[in-house]
Amino acid sequence: MKKDLEAIHLYWIENCTCELKKTANQAVKGHGNPKADIVFIGEAPGQKEDETGVPFVGSAGKFLDEMLSTIKLKREDIYITNIVKYRPPKNRDPLPEEKSACREWLYEELKSISPKLIVFLGRHSMNDFFPDLKISTAHGKLIHKKFSDFPVEYFLPLYHPAAALYNGSMRETLMKDFKKIPSILNKIEQIK
Ligand code: URA
Repeated sequence: MKKDLEAIHLYWIENCTCELKKTANQAVKGHGNPKADIVFIGEAPGQKEDETGVPFVGSAGKFLDEMLSTIKLKREDIYITNIVKYRPPKNRDPLPEEKSACREWLYEELKSISPKLIVFLGRHSMNDFFPDLKISTAHGKLIHKKFSDFPVEYFLPLYHPAAALYNGSMRETLMKDFKKIPSILNKIEQIK
């Protein structure tokens, strides 16, 4: 039986053993449509997210919203979360043990939503599932892989919007890759 998303968040807010809990203001749980076809996974909350408790509300989030609107989607249509739910001090990269501590929370979220497609925002979330891939070659290419006891088989790595925001060529690549999402989803729906 699928677990209720809010129950999952409540459980893990109480029980997550991530050390980042000690320095962050609050947990930034996943946000959006619990029945979404697409789940976006980022890296970790930044300052704005730590203040508001909502993922992707800073400058990277605004850029993400712009890209969503180019494919006629809104936040309410998708679900967005992060591999770690607490802001790392000074926005440093999350440590392996911090990612491990938050992993079960992420998997439970994903199993509850069971989307058709997972979009990785950046190398950190991609490498959590596919440790050997490089974002510079994997971006924009659909991956099909069946993991045991996991409902999602299709994955699309993209550059992280924060990395691409002020880098002209990466920004263009990200926007181009992003526009592939509707046709990729269509393809998945036809296979299923
Ligand atoms: N970057 C992320 O990876 N996640 C957020 O929530 C905000 C910025």
